[in-house]
Amino acid sequence: VEYVIRERLRLHGSILSYHSVYFTILLLIYAAVIIGNSLIVLVTVLDLSLHSPMYFFLRNLSFLEICYISATLPKMLVCFLTGDVRISFLGCAAQLYFLVFLGSTECLLLAAMAYDRYVAICDPLRYSLVMNGGFCVRLVVGSWMVAIPIQMGQTYQVFTLPFCASHHLHHFFCDVPPLLELACADTFWSRVTLNTIILLFAIFPFFMIVVSYVRIIGTVLKMHSAPGRHKAFSTCSSHLIVLTLFYGSASVVYCKHHSSDSADTDKYLALFYTILTPMFNPVIYGMRNRELRIALRKLLWRK
Ligand SMILES: *[C@@H]1O[C@H](CO)[C@@H](O)[C@H](O)[C@H]1NC(C)=O
Repeated sequence: VEYVIRERLRLHGSILSYHSVYFTILLLIYAAVIIGNSLIVLVTVLDLSLHSPMYFFLRNLSFLEICYISATLPKMLVCFLTGDVRISFLGCAAQLYFLVFLGSTECLLLAAMAYDRYVAICDPLRYSLVMNGGFCVRLVVGSWMVAIPIQMGQTYQVFTLPFCASHHLHHFFCDVPPLLELACADTFWSRVTLNTIILLFAIFPFFMIVVSYVRIIGTVLKMHSAPGRHKAFSTCSSHLIVLTLFYGSASVVYCKHHSSDSADTDKYLALFYTILTPMFNPVIYGMRNRELRIALRKLLWRK
């Protein structure tokens, strides 16, 4: 399988200057993602005032974002640096596996976070009872574990397809839809698997998230205290921004098959859910969250 990165760059003329520009931008993004998310992990571990379920989930999400972006971006960096856009089948399979496994985990974790906010806002008296330590740990571990065997199966299924006609992958990394486009066999059952997985790991959690937020918004609108309403809205709006970014771009790429005309736009949209979501996660949660900002300032000042 060969990335198409080089072809695109040739279209623009000078290969070398484009290489270094893209390489620099991607490297800066990668550094920002690692630093931003690590800071969230660090501050939510060290600051005792942040030892609540909400920050427990946020810490794990930040950790997940670091893993998630590391599935695709380092390989892209190497491609830009060396100009060698080839990837081995085994490398492509590993990349695909980590991408879909961590992507599913992200969907489930975002659903768990929405549920946490739902209980906190709609049922505050029972919050500490429902969201006890054991339950939170089970939700997080479950989000990580449940996709592992299923996505191994899907990766195996994709890579038992024959790739005989072309080895040019029209994408920046190995993902299921472009690989299925490339296979020269009947992909009916692979698409059945793909759609089942999308239903299970994307649409079902998305539905839970929507239900949670509809009920949250209903409760918030009925609140009498203005500061309470403001606080609830500001935490939830940051969740909603991350959700829209992630789900919006992923659904366009995943839910539209046989999209050879728009493969080009899909390729760029895919950068949204693989790169922009991990990048904006710490920005959105960190900047908009007063408790986190204060804890971070305390942490850095102490040093
Ligand atoms: C997030 O959860 C997973 C699965 O339980 C665990 O392996 C990982 O260490 C957790 N990460 C953080 C930063 O808590």
